[in-house]
Amino acid sequence: MDLAEIKELAFKHLGNRKAHSERERGFIYYHGQRVANIALELRKMILPADDANDEAIIAAAYFHDIAKGIEPHSYYGSILVRDILKDHCSLEELELICEIIRFHQFRDKSKSYNDYVKIIQDADILDHGGVVEIWMNFGYFVHKDGTLTDSLEFYQTEYDSLAEKMRNALNYDISLEIYDEKNRFVKDFIKRLNVEAYGEIYLKHN
Ligand SMILES: [Fe+2]
Ligand SMILES: [Fe+2]
Repeated sequence: MDLAEIKELAFKHLGNRKAHSERERGFIYYHGQRVANIALELRKMILPADDANDEAIIAAAYFHDIAKGIEPHSYYGSILVRDILKDHCSLEELELICEIIRFHQFRDKSKSYNDYVKIIQDADILDHGGVVEIWMNFGYFVHKDGTLTDSLEFYQTEYDSLAEKMRNALNYDISLEIYDEKNRFVKDFIKRLNVEAYGEIYLKHN
């Protein structure tokens, strides 16, 4: 598999697409790139001796949300990607890529998904934490003509339960550890937002 070529293909399909009105152009492409990197890091920690499917994991990450908006997007995405990648990888690689995409959205812990699916599921959630959480939140409120205090209000009233829901969907202990660290960063950020959104001096509060 020529990953540079696959990446170009992903950009061609997703790089300029405006899939969500409240997110930036190309969000699905950049999210896919980040998920690929996070997934690879997770794979090294969770399955340290198994690098045989890294290229398939990366390709699946690049395209996993291609059908976002046509729900269930994981199902329709796997159909689209089977066609897009059919001349770019082996049949076995294509099967694995499509399986990962097909199940990435369904986080039913009673079902035994393979580790590659679970790694992408966790990487997908982890990319919504930390700095990216704040980027998406600010982007959302800017697009909705909201204010900085609208964002603060979201963080004070809704963030904790959403974060808890995302955390509960994670598959691996290492993912929980990474998520908790990202969450601590966001909580620190909220503390500061609660001061600076009102023009107060953070240094005086600490
Ligand atoms: Fe998705
Ligand atoms: Fe995603």
